[in-house]
Amino acid sequence: MSNNAPVGVFDSGVGGLSVLGEINRLLPQETLLYVADSGHVPYGEKSAEYIRERSRKIASFLVEQGAKALVLACNTATAAAVADLRSLYDMPVVGMEPAVKPAALATRTGVVGVLATTGTLQSARFAALLDRFAGAVRVVTQPCPGLVECVERGELQGQHVEQLLRSYTDPLLEAGCDTLILGCTHYPFLRAQLMTILPSGITLVDTGAAVARQLRARLSEAELLADGASQGPRFWSTAAPKSLEDVLRVLWGRNETVRALSV
Ligand code: DGL
Repeated sequence: MSNNAPVGVFDSGVGGLSVLGEINRLLPQETLLYVADSGHVPYGEKSAEYIRERSRKIASFLVEQGAKALVLACNTATAAAVADLRSLYDMPVVGMEPAVKPAALATRTGVVGVLATTGTLQSARFAALLDRFAGAVRVVTQPCPGLVECVERGELQGQHVEQLLRSYTDPLLEAGCDTLILGCTHYPFLRAQLMTILPSGITLVDTGAAVARQLRARLSEAELLADGASQGPRFWSTAAPKSLEDVLRVLWGRNETVRALSV
């Protein structure tokens, strides 16, 4: 495996771009491939079996493109499929989980809220994460149907998003949370709108930067860190490429060409 082979990154849609940005900042020499499974979004309300099947198909495509490592830039896909992909591929496979550990360390009220998809919150991996890291901290969970669809449309602000965010954060604030975990990779794109509705003193935590550091550690261990210049990112979508191109301009801040992928 060549050091300058690309890293394959995927998500149910555009949410993983929040992670891709962190990877690109920390590891600018890496060539990144990104698949948005926007033809099958949202994963959050679908069965673990379905998400495993989707993840297998996308991972297989990325490996065919020459990927030296895989990143599941999706909490929901990680909960359902990371163990399966690790059993299939002998390469670094990096997943992600809601940031319970840093949130438990950061809270002063001793109450932490988790905004995530139903799939993530109902998973055995999430239960194990709480057992391991919540300690004496009370963790209040909140599934957020509808938010992912807003981000997929590039709708990051406005009355509809604000109403949804209020309906999901109000119960957490009432429960005494001072720290909110953004446990889905789509949600960091709603940070600006969230900040306008949350009282001051509320901390928001997400995992994108930690995933980038974990990828660097895993590539370094495997002696696979790129030693040449990046060839620039490449994007695929399982929905209409034009829609992703439009949303990329907003979320990624650049004009990129997107190819259609049917897997
Ligand atoms: N972005 C995904 C996550 O991190 C899931 C969104 C969805 O498709 O429901 O959980």
